[in-house]
Amino acid sequence: MDPNVRPDTMERITTPALAEKFIAEQVAAIKQQVQDKKVLLALSGGVDSSVVAALLIKAIGKNLVCVHVNHGLLRKGEPEQVIKVFRDEMNANLVYVDAVDRFLDKLAGVKEPETKRKIIGAEFIRVFEEEARKQKDISFLAQGTIYPDILESKDGVKAHHNVGGLPEDLKFELVEPVKLLFKDEVRVVGKALGLPDNMVYRQPFPGPGLGVRCVGAITRERLEVVREADAILREEFAANGLAGKVWQYFTIVPDFKSVGVNEKGERTEGYLVVLRAVNTRDAMTATVPELPFALLTHITNRITHEVKGVNRVAFDLTPKPTGTIEWE
Ligand code: XMP
Repeated sequence: MDPNVRPDTMERITTPALAEKFIAEQVAAIKQQVQDKKVLLALSGGVDSSVVAALLIKAIGKNLVCVHVNHGLLRKGEPEQVIKVFRDEMNANLVYVDAVDRFLDKLAGVKEPETKRKIIGAEFIRVFEEEARKQKDISFLAQGTIYPDILESKDGVKAHHNVGGLPEDLKFELVEPVKLLFKDEVRVVGKALGLPDNMVYRQPFPGPGLGVRCVGAITRERLEVVREADAILREEFAANGLAGKVWQYFTIVPDFKSVGVNEKGERTEGYLVVLRAVNTRDAMTATVPELPFALLTHITNRITHEVKGVNRVAFDLTPKPTGTIEWE
């Protein structure tokens, strides 16, 4: 039997009871595979790696070494939440790496979107590799591979190894406890493992993070505008019952200033914040949901008054095609 093929007999995990059964089976399987050896995991705080972390903590406790790399392109509150949930509440062995300056210095002045992506991806591997070398006696690498990753890598759509690209001498045996699960099942398991809802039901977030939403060459100032405006948008979507209903929603800040006027009647030059919200099944095509106009004006008002340096907000009405979901 191919371990990378989901058996037809495998029941879809839709209930807490089925999740508990899966958890018990995986905890036993992990214990048997890993024994008393150490496992390394890149923990982003996304649902897949968080569920893998929680499963491994249950199975082997401190023999799991979680590495959380803060590349400076995460959303507001994310690194703090990873530390709170895993180090403080689950008592995990968590290495927090503040690599913010490293990433932002490498990205300074880089305008081209694919070059930005390559720099972020390559630097991530380098930081993770350095941490892996600091750790002693690691035998396994855990990954949050899920079934769609396996299906897509079979079709040649994408390479599924999240930290693929590690040098030969750091090629560990893999532990991939959720590799036969679909995303909705991973969420049911995450809930049963006690992970917070905003982690379990988190919207998709690209690997290069806010980096591709701070259009063109990233500056620290504009990155903060993206982050603060995104936090307001997420807060308002959550407060208005849209968080679980809209597939992905975020803010973009282009690299030019718009002319505006302040309450005293003085001319200003400030950033434009673009709101983006989309619904989709597979991210190949997407539609823009109809949102209450009063909510859009409320969000506009909050962003222009609460985020320093912003004088204009726009809402992107473009479906995919013709626009991609991200702006670059
Ligand atoms: P686009 O912009 O191509 O986005 O319509 C489709 C989905 O993919 C996400 N996305 C990425 N995810 N690395 C990722 O991990 C990337 O470089 C990347 N670019 C886009 C995007 O957020 C959307 O969900």
